[in-house]
Amino acid sequence: MSELEWWRSAVIYQVYIRSFADGDGDGLGDIAGLAAELDHLVRLGVDAIWINPWYPSPFADAGYDVSDYRAIEPRFGTLADAEALIAAAHDRGLRVLLDIVPNHTSEQHVWFQQALAAGPGSPERERYIFREGRGEHGELAPNDWRSAFHGPAWTRITEADGTPGPWYLHLFAPEQPDLNWHHPDVHADMIETLRFWFDRGADGFRIDVAHSLIKEAGLPDIGERGWNRLPFRLQPIPGVHQTDHPHWDRDEVHEIYREWRAVADAYHPPRIFVAEAWTPDPSRTARYVRSDELHTAFNFDFLRCRWIADHLRGVIDDTLHEHRSVGATATWVLSNHDVARHVSRFARPQRGGVRGHHLRDLAAEADIELGVRRARAAALLMFALPGSCYVYQGEELGLPEVEDLPEASLQDPTWQRSNGTDRGRDGCRVPIPWTVDPATNFGFSRTTPAAAPWLPQPAWFGEYAAATQDGAAGSTLELYRAGLALRRAEPALGEGDMAWVEVPEGALAFTREPGFACVTNVDADPVEVPAGWTLLVASEPLVGGRVGGDTTAWFRTA
Ligand code: GLC
Repeated sequence: MSELEWWRSAVIYQVYIRSFADGDGDGLGDIAGLAAELDHLVRLGVDAIWINPWYPSPFADAGYDVSDYRAIEPRFGTLADAEALIAAAHDRGLRVLLDIVPNHTSEQHVWFQQALAAGPGSPERERYIFREGRGEHGELAPNDWRSAFHGPAWTRITEADGTPGPWYLHLFAPEQPDLNWHHPDVHADMIETLRFWFDRGADGFRIDVAHSLIKEAGLPDIGERGWNRLPFRLQPIPGVHQTDHPHWDRDEVHEIYREWRAVADAYHPPRIFVAEAWTPDPSRTARYVRSDELHTAFNFDFLRCRWIADHLRGVIDDTLHEHRSVGATATWVLSNHDVARHVSRFARPQRGGVRGHHLRDLAAEADIELGVRRARAAALLMFALPGSCYVYQGEELGLPEVEDLPEASLQDPTWQRSNGTDRGRDGCRVPIPWTVDPATNFGFSRTTPAAAPWLPQPAWFGEYAAATQDGAAGSTLELYRAGLALRRAEPALGEGDMAWVEVPEGALAFTREPGFACVTNVDADPVEVPAGWTLLVASEPLVGGRVGGDTTAWFRTA
């Protein structure tokens, strides 16, 4: 594989910048904090970082409400800081992916402000999706679409003269009006944003809700057409036709990515994309990674999979099959900033309990120690699979979800919009612990004194601190380092083929050439290892030479 195809085998670390490291002590992570920790990432052994949105934003949705795509949020730093960060990462051999949010802008974006000011029927309003309401006086929303954060997907505006106006569409919060992707300005401006950052050295973009940009003409009601679920919570509905939703995953969206691919390919080296596309099955995900479209797409079927051996095997087989059919590489991921951390998911009963990537409370049944053990096994399994993978900050520490954030501290718009019934995603976004020192927010803040972090950290956070795990035999941080170092050194790992090896039910095993095997025991009796295999690394010590439950081990086979 050529160096230009680095992304086919890469391990990419997700930096949720608000919560990674706080250089100036204001309680919010920033570019200075990230710059100070690049060496941590080099030591961890990742190939690239993906930085969540760092653009100016009113933060109605933690920065996914962008008011200016070609600038840096002052609380994170300056454009010069961003350029220096990209250069510093490159100096260390780390590539940098940014996050582009094409479905919607912030309501504070100049376009939306112009649209409001320009009045009914103006060309400025054409860049968004304004419609008259239904009902005698337009008092009802134009259709039945729901916001991903609860409540209707429409908000009615009041015109400058005080009269009630039309409604605008927002698939997310009201502060995030959806753009009209049938408008040429929208295409042109987003491409200008791609080039702006590519010209500054960005190696690619993660594309936010890549599956939502195109809406069906006429904006019909969803009615009974299935999977109108929150995008992070899509669950296929048995018996419902899954491929004709009026705003998720419409076929026409692929045209946009063909345009973008041409833009990325015009650079040397070519820039790359990863799609955030929540689709009902791997065949729909694979459509985003056809050869003239995006390079990679997160495999959320793996993320949603329970810790059940035959489910895992099914997802792995389907994903590899569908990706190969379009010549693409698979992209494995266990956690991100939108879902409960997998330690806490795996801490719950897997059969009949937890579904997909939800916690659905069950806190009383959670066994965090077991969750950490499974998470370690899952990480080694993921690193051994063909393709690329993502690591969400904190998972290398074995960090669980913070499930009991005080209600008053919750920031996810989901909490307010669900009238306090859905706590949302804050529990996986708490600033990560670097040290055991509470005075510096467990080392998250790099000044003393430091302001309180933007989400409170629980007292137990220090138990997971990077400093404590650094150099400690058997720690999760050292397991990640060892796994990633081996992954880099082993020619068999990364992009390529794998072959299943028959093992007892409840376990998974496969070989990769040359000379590598991975055995994951989910819930079988300890698994025998063939004579002649030698251990490379294991998520837990072997039991009398066998691989025990909730354990992954890697072997040299020849
Ligand atoms: C994506 C982001 C999520 C955000 C949403 C709206 O799913 O990952 O955090 O809330 O898009 O932009």
